[in-house]
Amino acid sequence: MCGIVGVVSNKDVNQKLLNGLANLEYRGYDSVGMCFIYNKNFRIKKGVGKLEEVHKKVNFLKFPGNIGIAHCRWSTHGGVTEKNAHPHVDCTNKISVVHNGIIENYSELKVELMKKGHKFNSETDTEVIAHLIEENLKGHKIEDSIKLALKKIEGSYALGILFADEPEKLIAARNESPLIIGIGDNENFIASDVPSILDYTKKIVYLEDREMAVLTKDKVSIFDLDGNLKNKIINIIKWDAAAAQKSGYRHFMLKEIYEQPRAIADTLNERIRNNNVVFEKEFALTNEFLKKIKRIIIVACGTSWHASLVGEFMLEELAKIPVEVEYASEFRYRHPILDKDTLIIAVSQSGETADTIAALKEAKNYGVKTLSICNVMGSSITRISDGVIYTRAGPEIGVASTKAFTTQLAVMYLFTILLSKLKKTLNDKQIKDMIDGIRKIPLQLQSVLDEDGEILKCAELYHQKLNSIYLGRGVNFPIALEGALKLKEVSYIHAEGYPAAEMKHGPIALIDKNMPVVLIAPHDIYTYKKVLGNIEEVKARGGIIIAIATEGDKEIPKKAKHTIFIPKTLYTLSSILAVVPLQLLAYHIADKLGRDIDKPRSLAKTVTVE
Ligand code: M6R
Repeated sequence: MCGIVGVVSNKDVNQKLLNGLANLEYRGYDSVGMCFIYNKNFRIKKGVGKLEEVHKKVNFLKFPGNIGIAHCRWSTHGGVTEKNAHPHVDCTNKISVVHNGIIENYSELKVELMKKGHKFNSETDTEVIAHLIEENLKGHKIEDSIKLALKKIEGSYALGILFADEPEKLIAARNESPLIIGIGDNENFIASDVPSILDYTKKIVYLEDREMAVLTKDKVSIFDLDGNLKNKIINIIKWDAAAAQKSGYRHFMLKEIYEQPRAIADTLNERIRNNNVVFEKEFALTNEFLKKIKRIIIVACGTSWHASLVGEFMLEELAKIPVEVEYASEFRYRHPILDKDTLIIAVSQSGETADTIAALKEAKNYGVKTLSICNVMGSSITRISDGVIYTRAGPEIGVASTKAFTTQLAVMYLFTILLSKLKKTLNDKQIKDMIDGIRKIPLQLQSVLDEDGEILKCAELYHQKLNSIYLGRGVNFPIALEGALKLKEVSYIHAEGYPAAEMKHGPIALIDKNMPVVLIAPHDIYTYKKVLGNIEEVKARGGIIIAIATEGDKEIPKKAKHTIFIPKTLYTLSSILAVVPLQLLAYHIADKLGRDIDKPRSLAKTVTVE
């Protein structure tokens, strides 16, 4: 996944690179490196470990230079070693490259280049790029050498490239990996994401696939790989730099959990008018088309996939439209049966997940309409889809997704209202009840957050357990999956999510007095009584029951060891409230275990490789 930042300026760039990298570290934290040009020579400093550790050793701030590139690595090709840390250079030490992505044909290129006498220093796929450019430089200018190299490589890349002999020029290129350009005053930037440079500029240009940019301190020129100059729009970003800071919380994950009332309120804001749902112009799909939809396929990964399962439940239950939810990584290699009355929805916090982008492109090949539900303005997925609904969670930095998830559920709910109205599957009174229900959610979320004391107590008691089971039914089955995923991600404790009744078909064998079982059991007319039965089954086997129940429930506290209450709401909305205690439980357990919560091992926030 990796993070990239680069600056060309009229001042020293070391502090900006350091800040940029600190904001990008969620993308990878195996190793870090920087390259500055000073007196037409490279100064490359790198090391294994997190930014803070490496910075302590090398002190990046010691190195002057008005131009530089920096990288934090999430290893794909080659182990976690200093040699494999970026930047990588050619044989002459004149070309320096940082890369996010995977060069799929690197082995063939490496053999070819070695035959020509190139000596490789690392095991990475990235290094071939530096040598390829070096090889092309024999008969071409710098920009042309890069273009030729890019035409030869297959795979994904976001690149920052420096030439020691041209110390005023920073070159960038992208294909299927995110890269943006920031326009500053007497300085310009490249970066993997917007928040990493928000302190310095809000003027952003999005690079498209197979585009290349040449940046000097006062000019940015963008070309396609045939050298045609591209006219690009400068986007003004509304996010505040402070939104990407911890604001006194010990971890981004905790801050983001606590931000959920605000995030949901923002996501609803101005979208509900006179009991109607109105999306902004980016939504772009017409009522005429929406009325005709006969089927929806939702593609997503990870937590966004769980949100999609909740969406499936809402849309089928209320708008009466058949919905399938697919893992994007599977969908992209299938030959789906699609027609013009099918809508494809891609759900993604980052808008840059490689598999979700590929699934969307696959759908577009069939000519079907696509909609994305996304948190990051201008990200790849939003640019590919026909329409977009933004979740307005604000920058999500913690690797474990929290506020993005609940805002995705809120958007799914709004979209369900819109479709139910257009398809006349619900009457005005039912629509009004739904709208009243979601309007209450921000306040109700606040009261769920106030239950933190009981959740902390559970974390204190059970953080040493090695396994746990999460059970839910109906709209809360995906919440069981999400609760288990959160725990795995940040605490490294094995956890399984199951539909509660499915427990009897296997997992029940695991339950004994050492097994915490989290049961999501809000009071509803659908499955509540059945879940009560499931609770008895767990209890009979000695399992430690932690239940999520509706305020006022008298039955569940009699059976469960711990009960965490959520306010009364509509059944479909109970999922938004029920997930929050599970996020907090995962957080507190990980904290008790001393885990690196915002940078869990082996994970990266945005999975930009397949
Ligand atoms: O940015 P996306 O929503 O497309 O990311 C999808 C998954 O990688 C992401 O949800 C992942 O599962 C999170 N780390 C979960 O907390």
